[in-house]
Amino acid sequence: MTAQIIDGKAFAAKVRGQVAEHVARLKTDHGITPGLAVVLVGEDPASQVYVRSKGKSTVESGMNSYEHKLDATTSEADLLALIDKLNNDPAVHGILVQLPLPKHLDSDLVINSIDPAKDVDGFHISNVGLLGTGQKSMVPCTPLGCLMMLRDHHGKLAGMDAVVVGRSNIVGKPMAQLLLGDSCTVTIAHSRTKDLGEVCRRADILVAAVGRPEMIPGDWVKPGATVIDVGINRIERDGKTVLVGDVDFASAATVAGAITPVPGGVGPMTIACLLANTLTACCRANGLAEPEGLTA
Ligand code: GUN
Repeated sequence: MTAQIIDGKAFAAKVRGQVAEHVARLKTDHGITPGLAVVLVGEDPASQVYVRSKGKSTVESGMNSYEHKLDATTSEADLLALIDKLNNDPAVHGILVQLPLPKHLDSDLVINSIDPAKDVDGFHISNVGLLGTGQKSMVPCTPLGCLMMLRDHHGKLAGMDAVVVGRSNIVGKPMAQLLLGDSCTVTIAHSRTKDLGEVCRRADILVAAVGRPEMIPGDWVKPGATVIDVGINRIERDGKTVLVGDVDFASAATVAGAITPVPGGVGPMTIACLLANTLTACCRANGLAEPEGLTA
């Protein structure tokens, strides 16, 4: 193995420490405590785990956590009424509606009913447009975490060839916008891309966000490249359930210059960035300086 392992767990702990410090200062200097409201509709087990984990991390960082658990049969009108209440609650600086929503609810409508200034997921169409035009916005947590790790590893990213595999609204598209914002030459590839291996081999920075276990082999990686693996896939191996990324770690780590592991890479950064976004939203809402190094 030649690649440097990018330790997302350690980096996330550092970010969370910075958030907690800033939160403590907000309290002593201004008497303000940032608040994050998380809304969960239904009983999806994976979502329940995420929501619990988000609530715990929020409290650990010194912020207030408001959890709203609604029945799976909640009507769209009731959900929109709750979001309206949270939009108008001055103690709530961030609102996150856990996805996926039950099928009878229109996710786009629900997300776009959140006040864009409180949209800590960065999914509201206003934030998508602001990011795409290089204006101040709320940035989706997972791509923001990837960007922070890349900046930390490389310093400036200008002029690097970046390939993002995956075109989702949550990761692929905003990731490409962020890399473009840092002056990379960006290619967005996906399942229908011709000669995907050839395209990936051009990348100085390769971001894999397709949700297919170990789909990217080591011989698609340019020697010395930085590989960011966003995938979190549960597979059966030797009779056990294990977590693997979208990159075949064993072979990629022999070629790459640096690589994020799964687990312990991008995953922990996502919640750290949710906390950072909540802090940023709180600072903006109060006309205070934004936390340095924690925004795009
Ligand atoms: N479900 C899976 N990932 C996410 C995320 O980043 N935000 C929200 N709101 N729901 C999710």
